[in-house]
Amino acid sequence: MTHPLLDILTAHKSDRSYTDQPIPQDVIDAIVEVAHRAPTSHNTQEVSLIVIQSPAIRAQIAEISGGQPWIAAAPVFFLLVMDYHKVALALKKHGKQVDIQNYAEGTIAGCTDVGIALGNMMAAAHALGLGVVPIGGLRADCARLIKLLNLPAYTFPVVGMVAGYVKPGKDAPLKPRMPLSTFCHSETYHAETMAADIDAYDATITAHWQKTGRTNGQTWSESMAEAMDHNYRPGLTEVLEAQGFLKKK
Ligand SMILES: Cc1cc2nc3c(=O)[nH]c(=O)nc-3n(C[C@H](O)[C@H](O)[C@H](O)COP(=O)(O)O)c2cc1C
Repeated sequence: MTHPLLDILTAHKSDRSYTDQPIPQDVIDAIVEVAHRAPTSHNTQEVSLIVIQSPAIRAQIAEISGGQPWIAAAPVFFLLVMDYHKVALALKKHGKQVDIQNYAEGTIAGCTDVGIALGNMMAAAHALGLGVVPIGGLRADCARLIKLLNLPAYTFPVVGMVAGYVKPGKDAPLKPRMPLSTFCHSETYHAETMAADIDAYDATITAHWQKTGRTNGQTWSESMAEAMDHNYRPGLTEVLEAQGFLKKK
């Protein structure tokens, strides 16, 4: 099956080398529009988008994100916020207080809807000739980001997106994925070949690092073993609680 949209989506890669060439306002507006048109659970529309072009603010976000220079280098940073603030205002009209953000359903729905908007934005940005990289690293110091951007109660910065024009000759290569059998299951979940598929993927990613000249690349299972055996974002629950989420029962 071929279709220009499929070509755009299957060509996705995260780029981290940008020129400072400005992005025309109509391109920024188009990216905003596809995020705004994205569906949300229950039509809650509990997503907000902050478009950040200020070099000073982007430099601080690069720092907050643990030192990610592409955030400061590219001309625009889009921040997606899970936003129950506007829902709280709607409930206030009816003499009620918002409570769903205190439960798993509220955070799962909010983060899912943020993810849908992010997907739309990445597709649009690629289609309009831009490179992108999603940024979850901003959660390294959410409290500082919340203060920097004046985020009110019942809001939480979930993820961002760098967008810009990629430096000529600095295009990132496509990163191989795990075998399709680990991802797409027919009728019920199948794990029979998964351990062997992970071995195969470890070999694939090692070959990818060799081909692309990366000398410090880990296998996939090594990088998972390093990151996923502990809480690599300590303090996040406390920041969520301070913003009015996950009230202790
Ligand atoms: C939600 C999300 C958060 C991410 N956060 C970061 C980040 O903070 N910094 C970064 O350089 N890449 C980040 N990435 C990019 C991933 O590392 C990248 O998508 C993954 O390695 C696959 O590579 P590809 O996008 O080139 O296919 C993030 C990706 C996603 C989807």
